[in-house]
Amino acid sequence: MKDLVVVGGGGHGRELLELLAAVNEERPRHRLLGVLDDGTPDAELLAAFRTRHVGPVRRLAELDAEYVIGVGSPVARAAIDRAASGWGRTPATLVHPRAVLGGRVTLGPGSVVCALASITTNVRTGRHAHVNIAATVGHDCRLGDYTTLAPGARVSGAVTLGDRVTIGTGAVVIQGLGIGAGTTVGAGAVVVRDLPAEVVAVGVPARPRGLAAGSVAAADPVGMA
Ligand SMILES: CC(C)(COP(=O)(O)OP(=O)(O)OC[C@H]1O[C@@H](n2cnc3c(N)ncnc32)[C@H](O)[C@@H]1OP(=O)(O)O)[C@@H](O)C(=O)NCCC(=O)NCCS
Repeated sequence: MKDLVVVGGGGHGRELLELLAAVNEERPRHRLLGVLDDGTPDAELLAAFRTRHVGPVRRLAELDAEYVIGVGSPVARAAIDRAASGWGRTPATLVHPRAVLGGRVTLGPGSVVCALASITTNVRTGRHAHVNIAATVGHDCRLGDYTTLAPGARVSGAVTLGDRVTIGTGAVVIQGLGIGAGTTVGAGAVVVRDLPAEVVAVGVPARPRGLAAGSVAAADPVGMA
């Protein structure tokens, strides 16, 4: 059994603690060392998982542990992963026992698939892709590094999502489309045409409304540049 830390002690971090508990209940796979966060996560909420805040993110440099990143923002996940990789750490990949994964589904290192999510067949994700509760991914999709599917997002077959794409909660992407890196699709949108990189698109049908906040070049959200 390997030691593991969850990076991020907020809401999504605690969701990963729930996921981890479900994984370990089925078969003990990870020994949780604690939560790393540059802020001050709620100690009482963490105690419910019999864990605690053990330091800032940079503490990972000295811990011989795998990591998962409980942070929703793809840009923040990318920055944390860059730092962790630089410290020689290896991510863990977590799949909830009540997620449904078909054949030829390849999850990149650090990826997370939450309860009730469904990924059908011949799908590949990059590093730290997060498929949240009840999100679905159809056949032959490609999800880039640090992509986020929010709860209930529906990605149809043969869709390609660039790195750091976020599909908002309840949004739909019809089959065969491509969405450029860094783009965010708003909650409830229906994407019926390809979308360029680094935009925010909302509505039915989804149309770009503006530029995505904080490109990768601009952002150092966890202060580790
Ligand atoms: C699209 C989104 C990224 C925009 O965020 P934002 O830039 O902070 O936008 P604001 O809240 O300032 O709203 C700007 C405008 O867009 C509209 N808007 C925001 N989100 C929208 C959405 N999903 N669909 C349609 N219109 C939306 C607002 O009504 C507002 O319109 P107005 O200028 O006419 O008043 C965000 O609203 C969203 O949908 N994010 C996904 C959230 C999600 O899935 N969370 C899951 C967490 S697990």
